[in-house]
Amino acid sequence: QAGWPGVIEAYRDRVAVPEGARTVTLQEGGTPLVPAPHLSERTGSTVYLKVEGANPTGSFKDRGMTVAMTQALAEGSKAVICASTGNTSASASAYATRAGLTSAVLVPQGKIAMGKLAQAVAHGARILQVQGNFDDCLELARKTSAEHPVTLVNSVNAARIEGQKTASFEVCDVLGRAPDVHCLPVGNAGNITAYWKGYTEYARDGVVDGTPRMFGFQAAGAAPLVHGQPVTEPDTVATAIRVGSPASWQGAVAAKDASNGLFGAMTDEEILAAYRLLSSREGVFVEPASASSVAGLLARADSGEVPAGSLVVCTVTGHGLKDPDTALAGMIEVEPLPVDPRAVATALELG
Ligand code: F0G
Repeated sequence: QAGWPGVIEAYRDRVAVPEGARTVTLQEGGTPLVPAPHLSERTGSTVYLKVEGANPTGSFKDRGMTVAMTQALAEGSKAVICASTGNTSASASAYATRAGLTSAVLVPQGKIAMGKLAQAVAHGARILQVQGNFDDCLELARKTSAEHPVTLVNSVNAARIEGQKTASFEVCDVLGRAPDVHCLPVGNAGNITAYWKGYTEYARDGVVDGTPRMFGFQAAGAAPLVHGQPVTEPDTVATAIRVGSPASWQGAVAAKDASNGLFGAMTDEEILAAYRLLSSREGVFVEPASASSVAGLLARADSGEVPAGSLVVCTVTGHGLKDPDTALAGMIEVEPLPVDPRAVATALELG
């Protein structure tokens, strides 16, 4: 096979999969680490974006799903199930198709971005819209998989964390060292747990000298880790991280504490401002939840918690095309033009 082989093959010696298993992959990972000149100037640090929207289904979930699906197939599973705010369902349905398994996805009614739903439809998942939030969906998915022969592929499945930790390896491989600070959006908290696992493994084995401080940012309306207790009715424009009771709570707290990191809560306004800054100043189109890492960095740099000259990586977790409604909200209707070059010149104020 040509080019980048996907994260299981790329990190064969570091990602555990069952002996002799057929690898289920869409050649995920190997995503760009893009310099962010505008953010660097604003913060006085050297800032990079780990652009996870470049994965096959447009989010970081694919790193975990290749491992979870490889394992499910090796164990003889015929069907998988997950709860999702959208990206996990998109990834699970694509990888299940690749593996020849059937997939069922439980999503909160009316609270999943259009592009993600389109993906689950396209890949032929059984889509169940639930009259509840993500936390309700996860409880239902857990119960269903406990009582029926269906494999749960949410990040409570350790295989997911195994795969997602490869993003830290890639960051270190490209930079030749660990960053000083790593900023992440946090929802169900699997990803911050996975990044920390990756960083600590590289440091333990002497591949790099140290580990970054882990900064995890939630939406203000869905910030259980910041408050130290679950949120019963989470709400935010960043639907991907609309989670009130993160499954990997302990993993997130361990990452923060052991790394001398922090959790922060960002308002929807701050998240949307960072979302627009990324697309209009850096040329990187992400979905709203992804921008919480950047919103958090800007706030913490302003308050002096990121020393000037730091090497900072912000993961932007999902592609902007996932959520066209948010991108187009507030766009002004414009009059259509006649097919006439003068009309174009006039409209563009070119005289
Ligand atoms: N960013 C995006 C775009 C996400 O879709 C998610 C999680 C996160 C960040 C947070 O990651 O849950 O590991 O802390 N999305 C899940 C889903 C909940 O169902 O797709 P986390």
